[in-house]
Amino acid sequence: MGTGYVGLVSGTCFAELGHDVVCVDKDKAKIDGLKLGTKVPIFEKGLEDLIKNNQARGRLDFALDISGVINESDIVIVAVGTPLDAKGRTNFDYINQCVSEIVVHAKRDLHVIIKSTVPVGTCDSIQKRFDQESSCAINVVSNPEFLREGEAVQDFLLPDRVVIGSELENRGVIDELYRELSNRGVEILYTNRVTAELIKYASNSFLAAKVAFINEIADLSESLGGDIGDISRGMGLDKRIGHKFLNAGPGFGGSCFPKDTKALINTGNDHGVELPLVGAISLSNEMRHKQIVKRIKKMVRVSEEISVLGLTYKAGTDDIRCSPAINIARELSAQGFKLRVHDPKGIAKAKKELRNMVSYYDNLYDAAKGTSLCVVATEWDDYKNLDSEKLANYMKKRHIYDLRKVINNESFVKSGFKVMVVGYRSE
Ligand code: UDX
Repeated sequence: MGTGYVGLVSGTCFAELGHDVVCVDKDKAKIDGLKLGTKVPIFEKGLEDLIKNNQARGRLDFALDISGVINESDIVIVAVGTPLDAKGRTNFDYINQCVSEIVVHAKRDLHVIIKSTVPVGTCDSIQKRFDQESSCAINVVSNPEFLREGEAVQDFLLPDRVVIGSELENRGVIDELYRELSNRGVEILYTNRVTAELIKYASNSFLAAKVAFINEIADLSESLGGDIGDISRGMGLDKRIGHKFLNAGPGFGGSCFPKDTKALINTGNDHGVELPLVGAISLSNEMRHKQIVKRIKKMVRVSEEISVLGLTYKAGTDDIRCSPAINIARELSAQGFKLRVHDPKGIAKAKKELRNMVSYYDNLYDAAKGTSLCVVATEWDDYKNLDSEKLANYMKKRHIYDLRKVINNESFVKSGFKVMVVGYRSE
């Protein structure tokens, strides 16, 4: 139930692992597009082929409603969105809608897997609802996802671990669901529901902490004349630290890290448990784009134009949710700067967010035309091979601010650019 980033990838990959799957979603256009094979609603490497192959093998189908399939199913997986409301609290509307539909339509015993990211304790309360409202024996299982956007298919089929939160002794059905992965040597960690929910929040918050930490060290490195690349490398060589998630940048974004760290803080507050470190992760990250705007304002006057290359929250996705690049563009525009922007995949979604606050260009050099500063905000390949000579000819002033350490520094210096890179003191 839910055919978005998590539901569509999970449903398709479960079919690939040998199960018969029906992905259900209320959005008729989305379901029609998938059924007819005319449109895959999200951009994920390898997904389209997997959908087509498994549809052809008759193991993957799509439906608008759970009622027609629930009583032929052993398992219902809930993978709907759990957005934050304006006050930073989780909106349970979609989850509650799914639970109500299962109560109404279920006529046989079921396992209901909650794959959506839900605040700790939610699965236990869903179990209570089924116990009170359904005459069937419905067992609620927490099975959080650890899918990175852009790598979701690979992360599903080759996970570091599968986490299962269940109060049931009999693991037969869940073992069967993940049989193929355990045959491939993937550890299936069984625990209780609350613990499984906590593992999800603790993992995401810890990864977010690594990113926020290296960003603060990058600020220190900038002022002390350090080399943030070597700092990351020097730290990561310690196997207890590891190299991953130590690339300094404009801050973390996406639909998970910002939301999950805030949700963990709320969980602490709700249970009277102080989580000062988790609070600091959010705070540190929220300050970051403001600091970057402050640095930019030292480089250009408000009468000059700026280009921002890369609007998605990271490369490999079209997603702009909580994107630092969008926050930076919005802040600069609000302070009177004229912006010209480019992104290989994210323009359509960026337009809905930034509307006419900025001007959009399909060609990145056109975006740089006549500008006095070019900000590289996302690590798309398009920007790794930026032609410094060509860019120099388009720009009014040769200033470039690399927030992702992706450009070829040497060639830009040779082409007469003043180069600023996150984590390095600018000359
Ligand atoms: C994350 C988790 O990795 C995944 O396990 C979870 O299920 C969902 O949230 P995702 O949000 O898709 O996945 O992106 P991820 O690749 O983890 O990056 C998150 C943010 O951190 C991005 O804004 C990215 O640019 C930033 N990041 C990541 C850094 O700035 N530096 C790094 O070294 C790594």
